[in-house]
Amino acid sequence: MARKILVTGAAGFIGSNFVHFLVANTDDTVTVLDKFTYAGNAASLAGLPENRVSVVHGDICDAELVDDLVAVSDVLVHFAAESHNDNSLHDPKPFLDTNIIGTYTLLEAVRRHGTRYHHISTDEVYGDLELDDPQRFTESTPYNPSSPYSSTKAGSDLLVRAWVRSFGVEATISNCSNNYGPRQHVEKFIPRQITNIIVGERPKLYGEGLNVRDWIHADDHSSAVLRIVEAGRIGDTYLIGADGEKNNRQVLELILTGMGQPSDAYDHVVDRPGHDLRYAIDSTKLRTELGWRPSFPDFERGLAATIDWYRGNEDWWRPQKAATEAKYREQGQ
Ligand code: NAD
Ligand code: DAU
Repeated sequence: MARKILVTGAAGFIGSNFVHFLVANTDDTVTVLDKFTYAGNAASLAGLPENRVSVVHGDICDAELVDDLVAVSDVLVHFAAESHNDNSLHDPKPFLDTNIIGTYTLLEAVRRHGTRYHHISTDEVYGDLELDDPQRFTESTPYNPSSPYSSTKAGSDLLVRAWVRSFGVEATISNCSNNYGPRQHVEKFIPRQITNIIVGERPKLYGEGLNVRDWIHADDHSSAVLRIVEAGRIGDTYLIGADGEKNNRQVLELILTGMGQPSDAYDHVVDRPGHDLRYAIDSTKLRTELGWRPSFPDFERGLAATIDWYRGNEDWWRPQKAATEAKYREQGQ
């Protein structure tokens, strides 16, 4: 039977990909709740059928609005967040408001209405790994966040766990690794470099570029979330990853050569303070318990498609590009 799904933060990167995925793969109707911060883009939801998707412009910290929307929803999937580490190092307060108070506001509403809740989180709650550590993150890795962003995400996860245990809220949590794909804001690593090359700027690599990220296509994140919503065990956490470890220099060289540039045509810029060295996900639980598999295991093909998307959708990202680079210049990056 078709469900009514409330999706927060779906004018952003992963939330919008999730709504496109739901429309293509289910009969569900979707209500989007988004504040349209600098990271929200109405164009990311353009073309979706009006009889399936409605959009509410509002703040997840607005308890009255949240209560009204949760009251008429079967499931709440919570993507909304302040999501960029670099921003959190310069102005942490919005991260506390949205990531902590916003999550608290949603949890109180699902508690009142008995609504199924899925919480979107990040592998960054686990801190970082040494480059040669044979262990990857699992559901039992202790929390050890490094930045204001990741610490507020860790705090929000702990609120969810407490609301499950103390109040019986029907919730699941997923912690995913770095996503790539269409509709990602140009402040983030991969789209920043692709769009720099398109506008004739040199790509910017923090430090030596040896930091490792575990890349997954946003559509694979979506399919994993849907699988957890439908079959996940209440109260459980699932790690989502597609075995996509690469260091930043490798990714940048792939972007450069994929766009017909010399592989060394980039600048080293000042490193991010407290920069996490390596993330790596062991997604065995999700694969064995819920039978999930990624559909985009080939990063290079997914990256080529992402480059094509940014080449073909300049209207989507051009309006954000100059302001984003001006902010980076102020920060010395
Ligand atoms: P994003 O920054 O692209 O989008 C965030 C969205 O949330 C925007 O549309 C913004 O307008 C909205 N928003 C912000 N504050 C809000 C508020 N107070 N009320 C309502 N809406 C608000 O983020 P993203 O990269 O799509 O990340 C989505 C979620 O996935 C986040 O919870 C993030 O922690 C998590 N996550 C991201 C990644 C990644 O690689 N990007 C990986 C793992 C987990
Ligand atoms: O691991 C999941 C996380 O991935 C999510 O929780 C975050 O919301 C998401 O933003 C992402 O965090 P990162 O900090 O890893 O992503 P970012 O795109 O900012 O940077 C990726 C790597 O690239 C990181 O090691 C820093 C580096 N970098 C980034 C930028 C913007 C550069 O070298 N140059 C750049 O210009």
